[in-house]
Amino acid sequence: MLIAGNWKMNTDARSSVELAQGIVREMVDSPSLTVAVCPPSPLLSGVAEALKGSRIRLGAQNIYWADAGAFTGEISAQMLLSLGCHYVILGHSERRQHFGETDGGVNSKVKQAVSTGLIPIICVGEQLNQRKAGKEQEVVALQVRFALEGIQVKAPNAIVIAYEPVWAIGTGETATPDQAQQMHAFIRSLIRQQFGNTIASKVNILYGGSMNPSNAEELLSQPDVNGGLIGGASLKADAFGKIIRAAQLVV
Ligand code: 13P
Repeated sequence: MLIAGNWKMNTDARSSVELAQGIVREMVDSPSLTVAVCPPSPLLSGVAEALKGSRIRLGAQNIYWADAGAFTGEISAQMLLSLGCHYVILGHSERRQHFGETDGGVNSKVKQAVSTGLIPIICVGEQLNQRKAGKEQEVVALQVRFALEGIQVKAPNAIVIAYEPVWAIGTGETATPDQAQQMHAFIRSLIRQQFGNTIASKVNILYGGSMNPSNAEELLSQPDVNGGLIGGASLKADAFGKIIRAAQLVV
């Protein structure tokens, strides 16, 4: 089980450290539960310092697919690894929507992450009109297949998938536990087709979209929901702590 906080473009040098310290205080000791926070890139080293000595892992929110070079404004996987990052969120719907992220771009970034040893948290999810048209599985299947095209995965923990229905992100509206379970089982079947059952049965598939302390336990109890990618509720240590404890109850 993996509980990851996506801080998006929030906090600053001081409040990021305070938030990280607060989450360290909320952390529980459960060997089968991994907790990660993904602050904005300029704040990673301060947060890394605040997390020292805890079991909380660090992640980032984007990379570029080249190793280094003349790519002004971009961030490499190697930079993140050198700061102690384990994870990187890739293909988030906000990046697809506002920054022209394409399936091909996501695929190049996933390749770069996996080949450098950074674990990509690959985000997929349909928009409301696509669900209303009954096309949610078709959309998600294309996103998953594109993102993973040509990727070699040797261990189940080398990648993470996050199912984030776009209509549930930041809206207060969540997928029902049944909707989440159905899509997660479907995503697992796609992983099984590509990588076989040993990988598919153990790969973490997270749910994201308005997960909060009151709905976390029910969502996380679904058999194919292996954790959460949490936006708004990860910006308050006590709310994030409650989600961590909900996860601890169901692992
Ligand atoms: P919210 O939890 O704020 O809905 O955001 C979810 C998300 O986008 C996590 O990546």
